[in-house]
Amino acid sequence: MSDPAEFKRAAAAAALDFIHPGMRLGLGTGSTAEAFLELLGARVARGLEVVGAATSERTADKARALGIRVADLDDLAPLDVTIDGADEADDALNLVKGGGGALLREKIVAASSRRMVVIADQSKLVKRLGAFALPVEVVAFGARSTLDRLERALAIAGYKNVAVTPRNGAEGLFRTDGGNLIFDCALKVIHDAPALASVLSQVPGVVDHGLFIGLASHLIVAGPDGTRILERKAS
Ligand code: 5RP
Repeated sequence: MSDPAEFKRAAAAAALDFIHPGMRLGLGTGSTAEAFLELLGARVARGLEVVGAATSERTADKARALGIRVADLDDLAPLDVTIDGADEADDALNLVKGGGGALLREKIVAASSRRMVVIADQSKLVKRLGAFALPVEVVAFGARSTLDRLERALAIAGYKNVAVTPRNGAEGLFRTDGGNLIFDCALKVIHDAPALASVLSQVPGVVDHGLFIGLASHLIVAGPDGTRILERKAS
């Protein structure tokens, strides 16, 4: 096995061990989360009863198409477990997410869950976060001035000359399910993820950012040497 898609599927398959009948699930977004949905859908077809809150419209559509019951988060919370992918994870289980543009709903759903199990191919496990450009969700109103404030806040926090790029979609600027924009911040290396998360949260116009700190309880990584599960240490 050498294909990232196969590793994603292997990590997704291992996450099925966290699922039990009657559970209320958070359903993640992205190709790894979709691999999990396909495996979950097969279990549902064989009689497993679960219900899920989706982290994006795309995931909700896919889950329904696979026969997985979907309901509003507010009718289900607290959730038993969320299964989601990541763009990067470190060994403290801090994450960068939002490559698929769903970071806000992903964070709300993860924060509403007793556990968050992250599934990933081995390439996502990194020593230092930051090589993947950090997605930051901003409101469209005054987006240009938010971009300037964001650059200044990053510079003050020690991240100088960072390219902050509004994300494009199929037709002009990418819009999230909530109608917001995404700015991708090419930080290269994140020195202190909790400190940066706090800086970003204070920028007016920023709705949320793709740093997930203290949310993931488990990380399942699959690679050529097999699948392993990392558990977040109590802090
Ligand atoms: C979407 C996400 C995804 O979990 C992340 O982009 C990973 O995607 P994939 O599983 O396709 O590699 O955060 O907003």
